[in-house]
Amino acid sequence: MARVVCPGSFDPVTNGHYDVISRAAALYDEVVVAVLINITKKSLFTTDERVEMLREVTQSHSNVQVERFHGLTVNFCTANGINAIVKGLRAVSDFEYEMQQAQMNYRLAKVETLFITTNPQYSFLSSSLIKEIAMYGGDVSGLVPEPVLGRLHARLAEQ
Ligand code: PNS
Repeated sequence: MARVVCPGSFDPVTNGHYDVISRAAALYDEVVVAVLINITKKSLFTTDERVEMLREVTQSHSNVQVERFHGLTVNFCTANGINAIVKGLRAVSDFEYEMQQAQMNYRLAKVETLFITTNPQYSFLSSSLIKEIAMYGGDVSGLVPEPVLGRLHARLAEQ
């Protein structure tokens, strides 16, 4: 059975992430979306919230599961018997860093990295940009899944 992991911060999940996860789910038997628990990086949503949103957004894909992890992605892979990571590539600017990580992850644990080129419709998207635009009242509808949009507005209104 081909199992892959899609790791990330997902703070919050965007339509770009969702596109990559859905396309990976069409290619592989099982996709584990792994949400990084990052205690040093300030996030808008807690890990639990990020996991909940991803579960809601991916509920129609029976072969997608959402988990959390801390530490190295390759350790998560090894512990779960997974030997490949799937990542989205938005632009050439992503490539250098992604290649470095891919080579390091292979060096560390022989875990392969497979890239899916992002749908051009979403190639300019990032969670950070979404948060910034929404914070200043910009319209991010159509860029994040509907359940995320509601939570994003609610969270920003609290601040
Ligand atoms: O959504 P992000 O923040 O771009 O995701 C980055 C992520 C979580 C995939 C990457 O930072 C990662 O793998 N972090 C876990 C720590 C790790 O394995 N670092 C070494 C990478 S070679």
